[in-house]
Amino acid sequence: MPDAKQGTKQETMHVNLKVKRYDPADSGGKTWWQEYEVDIHPDSTVLDALIEVREQNDGTLAMRCACRASICGSCGMKVNGSAKLVCKTRAIDVSPNGEQMTIEPMGNQHVVKDLVVSLDTFFAQIKRVEPFLQPDHVPAQGEYIASNASMENLLTSMNCIMCGCCVSDCTVLEVDSNFIGPAALAKAWRFTEDPRDGKRDERLKMLNDEDGGMWDCTRCMKCVDVCPKGVAPMDRIMELREAAIQAGNTNTPGYHHTESFYNSVKKNGRLDETRLAIDSAGWTNLPRLLDLAPIGIAAMRKGKLPPLFPHKAEDHKKVKDLYESVEGESK
Ligand code: SF4
Ligand code: FES
Repeated sequence: MPDAKQGTKQETMHVNLKVKRYDPADSGGKTWWQEYEVDIHPDSTVLDALIEVREQNDGTLAMRCACRASICGSCGMKVNGSAKLVCKTRAIDVSPNGEQMTIEPMGNQHVVKDLVVSLDTFFAQIKRVEPFLQPDHVPAQGEYIASNASMENLLTSMNCIMCGCCVSDCTVLEVDSNFIGPAALAKAWRFTEDPRDGKRDERLKMLNDEDGGMWDCTRCMKCVDVCPKGVAPMDRIMELREAAIQAGNTNTPGYHHTESFYNSVKKNGRLDETRLAIDSAGWTNLPRLLDLAPIGIAAMRKGKLPPLFPHKAEDHKKVKDLYESVEGESK
């Protein structure tokens, strides 16, 4: 039986990698693309291919990995534009017909060298949510008891391995570095749901009121797509919003935005974008309304200003019926 490295067609796979390089010492802050070709076993991962490159072709290529079993969270990178754990990603799944694959460092994080990013920003976001239990009493038995069901409920978020993939591909963080980010919000959710924690209301209020908090998510679902552990951060963020509203945090632009969206679609069968912007800012909040003026003027110039009085959708009665049926069911 020939060794895979001897290279028969059945036992090796030819991989063509295009890797984004960066060396702060040599390139004066510039990045460049470098191509590599290696032969690996068809069952190998993208990480195996990169290690082969480093061992056989180019020892200067910097990357980070440890467990090689999707546990430690250290090998997050962008593969063909999407964040992945490369130790969990088979090369053949990315490149079934030998297509070139591009490998880049994760996004929204400071690149240290080549494929290695600093996780300082990531952990600063996590710290903002105070990721530790804060009980409000000492139990009589000397032990905080939580039911199995309440702990099972936390499993989604507790599966997080802090890999940073969701932060890498978050489309809000691309334009607003103040956003607390999907991983931190999923972590916050874990503590608001833990029956042993005594700071639920304070946590919800803080994340509700804070600039860059739970209402800045635009529900693009990228974090759900890329999370390798099924944490589904965006779903956790929606649960946080619901919990914040239930806890009485309704005097915020985020809540007004949700309420306006709900009411206008119910009434017209379509979104009243003008009203949505004004309701979200608050009718009496002059500074916020003035902030919107340049956007309105720019939209008007491009002929994209939504109508001041929206037309009702043809089937708006059906939409209203749907609303009423769902509202009836939830009573
Ligand atoms: Fe990684 Fe998922 Fe945790 Fe984000 S939520 S850091 S993608 S495991
Ligand atoms: Fe540990 Fe990939 S090397 S998760």
